Amino acid sequence: MRRKIAAGNWKMNGLRADLAELENLSTDPGVDVLICLPATLIAAARDLPIAIGGQDCHDATNGAHTGDISAPMLVDAGASYVLTGHSERRSDHAETDADIAAKSRAAHDAGLTTIICIGETLAIRAAGTTLDIIDGQLAGSIPDCATADNTIIAYEPVWAIGTGKVPSTEQIAEVHAHIHARLKERFSDGADFGILYGGSVKASNAADIFAVPHVTGALVGGASLTAADFSPIITALAAS
Ligand code: 13P
Repeated sequence: MRRKIAAGNWKMNGLRADLAELENLSTDPGVDVLICLPATLIAAARDLPIAIGGQDCHDATNGAHTGDISAPMLVDAGASYVLTGHSERRSDHAETDADIAAKSRAAHDAGLTTIICIGETLAIRAAGTTLDIIDGQLAGSIPDCATADNTIIAYEPVWAIGTGKVPSTEQIAEVHAHIHARLKERFSDGADFGILYGGSVKASNAADIFAVPHVTGALVGGASLTAADFSPIITALAAS
C-alpha cells in the first residue's frame, strides 16, 4: 500500500529560530511527515522527529560549481528526501526536464528519495494541452532508475502555487489518474508510486483534495510554515 505523505516546502523562508514550529507538528502513524528546508537549516533540523528534505541538488557529486549543493552533501547534512524540478527552479533557473532527470538520478545514487515536481502553466491549461505537457514532463524528468521506493511525483499546477486558486477536484482527478496510468505503463511497480498534489493546499480544502483518487498526499508551501497551519493538513490526510 502507498504511504500517505504530508510534505512541506519552506522555499526561501526560515531562520534557525523558526525550526521550533516543527517541534509542535501533529503526528500520525499513518502519515509520513517531511519538510523540505533551505539548505542552511537541514543540519540544525536533523534531530527533529520528522524527515527532512532538500529543495534541489546538483547532478554532480562534487566539483567546481559555486553555490550549488550535491546530493551526498544533503545526505551528510541529514536529509533523506529532495525536491527536483519544482516549478520555481524550472522558471527561475531555466531547469529542463533533462536537468531534472540528471539531478534525480544523482539523488537516487546518494540514497535520497526524490519528489519530482511537474505541472502546467495557466496558458497551457487554457490551451487545453495540460495532459500533453504532463506526458512530456513525466517522460523527460523521471530517470529510468526510478522506483516506487525512491521516487514520489508531485503534481503542482503552476497557476495554483501561492495564488489561493485550486483546481476543481475533477481537474485534480483527471491529472492524477493520467499520471498513475503513465507510471503503470512505464515502470513495473508504477502503480505503487506516491502522487502528491501541491498548490494552495490549506486546512480548509485538504479533506476534499485527499478524497480524490490517486492523491496520496500533499506538497505544501505557505501552509507548512507554521504548526498551526500544517497540523490540520496532516490530520486531514490521516483521516482520508
Ligand atoms: P503553496 O502551498 O504556497 O501554494 O506552494 C505550493 C508549492 O509550491 C509547494 O512546493
